[in-house]
Amino acid sequence: MSEKITFADKKRKTVERAEFTEDGRYLRKVRSFVLRTGRLSDYQRDMMNDNWESLGLDYQNTPFDFEAIFGNNNPVVLEIGFGMGRSLVEMAEQNPGRNYIGIEVHTPGVGACMAYAVEKGVKNLRVICHDATEILRDSIANQALGGLQLYFPDPWQKAKHHKRRIVQPAFIERVLEKLAVGGFIHMATDWENYSEHMLEVLQQFPEQLANQSETNDFIPRPDFRPLTKFEERGHRLGHGVWDLYFIKK
Ligand SMILES: C[S@@+](CC[C@H](N)C(=O)[O-])C[C@H]1O[C@@H](n2cnc3c(N)ncnc32)[C@H](O)[C@@H]1O
Repeated sequence: MSEKITFADKKRKTVERAEFTEDGRYLRKVRSFVLRTGRLSDYQRDMMNDNWESLGLDYQNTPFDFEAIFGNNNPVVLEIGFGMGRSLVEMAEQNPGRNYIGIEVHTPGVGACMAYAVEKGVKNLRVICHDATEILRDSIANQALGGLQLYFPDPWQKAKHHKRRIVQPAFIERVLEKLAVGGFIHMATDWENYSEHMLEVLQQFPEQLANQSETNDFIPRPDFRPLTKFEERGHRLGHGVWDLYFIKK
């Protein structure tokens, strides 16, 4: 019988994978996250071990074959940083004609998402515990995605940390390679300065992206986006919410 993976091993293997320059020097990366501590409960760990075969995907350096993975060729929507995954599972449940891939580096979040997916019986969802920028670069074929969701990404509030924000021109260039024509980019944040930054970055691609906002900036909060944990927290703190929705031309 094959040995069960421990998720401490998985985290070490996937998140701390060192990268090197061609001449062998360690490549220091600017990451969009710090690994939060948080205990993976026994229940979450068991759910991950018992369901990884059917609901989990691992990093690979060749593109995923989505048709083989999902057994259909429905559009695939990628969500980066799903947190505890409740809203992602709800979206998958509400949209059976789409397939969802969720990526999160916070292992207890991956466990919680899987447990909820099992509870809801959703089959059109796969979760990955890895840095999303590496998955986008290596494991997703060009034009393979029907959409990208980025809800309440870490805002990195201090100016000296703005370089750690995941939304940067190079990130959007990569996303554009992976999106099919007609595919969407949907972002939301409760941090006004980040919403302005997101808009500024997305507006740098006028040939490839069409803003769906009537006022050419933000859209009203759409009903189809379930409330997320961080959005709820933002409400408690009295923050506003800004949604951005662009389509690849
Ligand atoms: C502020 S939380 C928001 C979580 C959730 N979307 C919500 O609204 O409740 C941002 C999440 O993005 C994850 N994250 C940040 N950068 C990531 C990356 N490069 N790859 C995967 N997950 C990432 C973090 O671990 C964190 O859980």
